[in-house]
Amino acid sequence: MGLDRSSYIDEIPSFERLEPDALEIRKEMNMRVAALMDARKGDRVDVGEYTAKMLLRQRVVNEKIIDWADIVHPGTRVLDGCAGPEGSLLAAARRGGDWTGNEIARDTAEHLKSTGAKVLLSSADKFDCDDNSFDALVYIFAINNICATKNTFTEASRVLDSEGGEIVVSDPGLTFWVSDLVLYALCQDPRVPSEVLDVLGSSDRFTSGIASYYERFPNVKPREYAEKTLEGLLGTDVEHAIAGLPAIVDFVKKSNNGRLDFRKFRRVFSEVLNGQYWVYVAECAKEAGFKLDKLGVLSASRLKDSMDWSVTDVQNLNWIDLSNSREIASAIYNVRNNKHPLSKEVVKPGSNVAQNVIAPVMKFSRMKKAE
Ligand SMILES: C[S@@+](CC[C@H](N)C(=O)[O-])C[C@H]1O[C@@H](n2cnc3c(N)ncnc32)[C@H](O)[C@@H]1O
Repeated sequence: MGLDRSSYIDEIPSFERLEPDALEIRKEMNMRVAALMDARKGDRVDVGEYTAKMLLRQRVVNEKIIDWADIVHPGTRVLDGCAGPEGSLLAAARRGGDWTGNEIARDTAEHLKSTGAKVLLSSADKFDCDDNSFDALVYIFAINNICATKNTFTEASRVLDSEGGEIVVSDPGLTFWVSDLVLYALCQDPRVPSEVLDVLGSSDRFTSGIASYYERFPNVKPREYAEKTLEGLLGTDVEHAIAGLPAIVDFVKKSNNGRLDFRKFRRVFSEVLNGQYWVYVAECAKEAGFKLDKLGVLSASRLKDSMDWSVTDVQNLNWIDLSNSREIASAIYNVRNNKHPLSKEVVKPGSNVAQNVIAPVMKFSRMKKAE
């Protein structure tokens, strides 16, 4: 694969040693991010350094997750479903894995190829490879991008060895950005309660921010965006999402002295989508014949630019039934919101859990016939 495995560990703390090509790949995106940061903080951001830090962070995250999942051993045929500019390439190589990266973005795939790695250029819900080609599948910060969770797991079942196969999944679910785009789109429907329209109308984000996003990208139609996201990521549809709005309104009012508050409403809406997202991930995995072996939490120290990432087991505490999709989603919710006793182990004293717990980490394996 053209990698010097022995020097890998030394390489982790020094982002100066990242490949120059990798920096080029994300330049455009990071120019935009840097410009935003400039505008906000009033100081200049070195795009190269910012990109290098971001890639280094991904490298450390992949390393921690692959270690925790323990799914790569010498000779393991690993497929990284959405590899990005590097993904789990080094983490797998360090453990002697036979790594292949899959990417949908042509430039990113070309970059990966230039490192000597094996690369597939295809969508993760329809890999360009034969059945039974791999032993392990990695989806790090991936399923929430693919937006086809059901097909993703069916496809995983096809390409993994029919006698075995393990999958590791970790991502932060739906960001506020995605849930806001969906909420805005739903509000175009006449059945949305007027209270909801009023409360969203009180926010600049909804009266101008999200609207101007849709205007800038005329190819993205709000209704279609909501339909695709709800179906692909949550296994539901616009009808159900609209029917669920009154319950969210009631919940927010009850916990807020009868008042419907914009910030709370937006947060609860996003939490509801995220809860359903994790239920759906667990259900699709089960339907495709995989069982959850381990559940963990990826967390980061709150210190600026910190590389202090870790994965902590949830299931060691034996509190949840790993075969129950709703229990899994509820454990994830409670840890993220500091309501689970595990939160105390994950989060350092004095810090805010929401900013530290980044994502759940799930390890699945193929169910045996008798299970
Ligand atoms: C957030 S990045 C994560 C990359 C990598 N797994 C990591 O941990 O650094 C998501 C990547 O998924 C790719 N992607 C998005 N949709 C995809 C799809 N349907 N199939 C394959 N790759 C996809 C994007 O091009 C992007 O490089």
